[in-house]
Amino acid sequence: MPSIKNKNVLITGGAGFIGSHLTDMLLKSGVGKVVIVDNFFLGKMSNLKDALTNYENIKIYRDDARNFGVMQAIIQNEEIEVVFNLATIALNYSFFNPFDAYMVNVEIANTLLELQKLGQYKTLIHSSSSEAYGTALYSPMDENHPLNPTTPYAAGKAAADLMIQSFYNVLNLDIAIIRPFNNYGPRQNDKQLAAIIPLTARRIQNGERPVIEGTGKQTRDFIYVEDTARAFVMAYENENSRGKVINLGSGIETTIHELIQNISEYYDYKGEIEFRPERKADVNRLCASALLANEILGFEPRVGLKDGLKLTLDWYNEHAGKDIESNG
Ligand SMILES: NC(=O)c1ccc[n+]([C@@H]2O[C@H](COP(=O)([O-])OP(=O)(O)OC[C@H]3O[C@@H](n4cnc5c(N)ncnc54)[C@H](O)[C@@H]3O)[C@@H](O)[C@H]2O)c1
Repeated sequence: MPSIKNKNVLITGGAGFIGSHLTDMLLKSGVGKVVIVDNFFLGKMSNLKDALTNYENIKIYRDDARNFGVMQAIIQNEEIEVVFNLATIALNYSFFNPFDAYMVNVEIANTLLELQKLGQYKTLIHSSSSEAYGTALYSPMDENHPLNPTTPYAAGKAAADLMIQSFYNVLNLDIAIIRPFNNYGPRQNDKQLAAIIPLTARRIQNGERPVIEGTGKQTRDFIYVEDTARAFVMAYENENSRGKVINLGSGIETTIHELIQNISEYYDYKGEIEFRPERKADVNRLCASALLANEILGFEPRVGLKDGLKLTLDWYNEHAGKDIESNG
């Protein structure tokens, strides 16, 4: 089985939320170097502060991972062996610019596959999303669940996955696809296009009411970001992952209403929750079957929602008002 130790690794989207935690984990694991390609759409240099303070074997390119020439030059010059593909544009961007929200996922996958086919690097570990499934037709959702994406972001994720799987089938490239459910943790974007946990934390901190779009009965399966980063490394180091799609979730379903209540309790917020109309194209139910990740990788999440939320909200408290840097 391959070891990540001493490998030269490239992370697309490495200045983002999950990418920056993966960067930290790879550096701790003794990689040769981490090379980040991020266009800083939502990425931030502050996400890489720990990595840059503690390690010298990290390099950052402010560039677009869609660009074949750019990626070829970086991969060649940095002698990259492994690519973790995490670059994307947040789901909420689908409502503003559906074309780019879709295409960015497909175009980056296309560039990475072409370069891999040319033998420019060996292994691709690609990040899908549970959004590719759409709402659960049955629960828990295993990897054979149909793909019914409802937003352009999700359609782009599903399209990229299908493209990557089909390339694996015809070219037998060294590829694994990891399909995380809802991630949360320190550094998740809390500004424009933010997801529900940072958004609610900031609202309560600013004296505003937390907001639920729809009934609040919609469910998600939350996984702590450090668990996800660990699973990405485990997927690289276990060749049984190749050619497969592997869900990453806790297998526990939480309603949005419960989540908002948990956040409210943390802040001792006893006021009202504001209910707004359901978001167009919102997914109703998501819950992972975590069996395959356990069978193939021996992966089990270590941080439950209660502890993970505390770690996350403590972090948002420490960074309230400080982290004013927006895009890199
Ligand atoms: N956050 C979640 O809950 C979640 C759940 C399932 C899957 N995922 C997947 O995990 C991966 C990382 O997501 P995240 O939550 O860290 O998002 P994020 O927005 O924090 O990170 C994505 C990064 O990609 C960068 N980026 C965007 N377009 C780019 C381009 N053309 N070239 C280079 N960089 C570009 C952004 O600047 C950002 O730093 C994505 O593939 C996402 O689909 C996330």
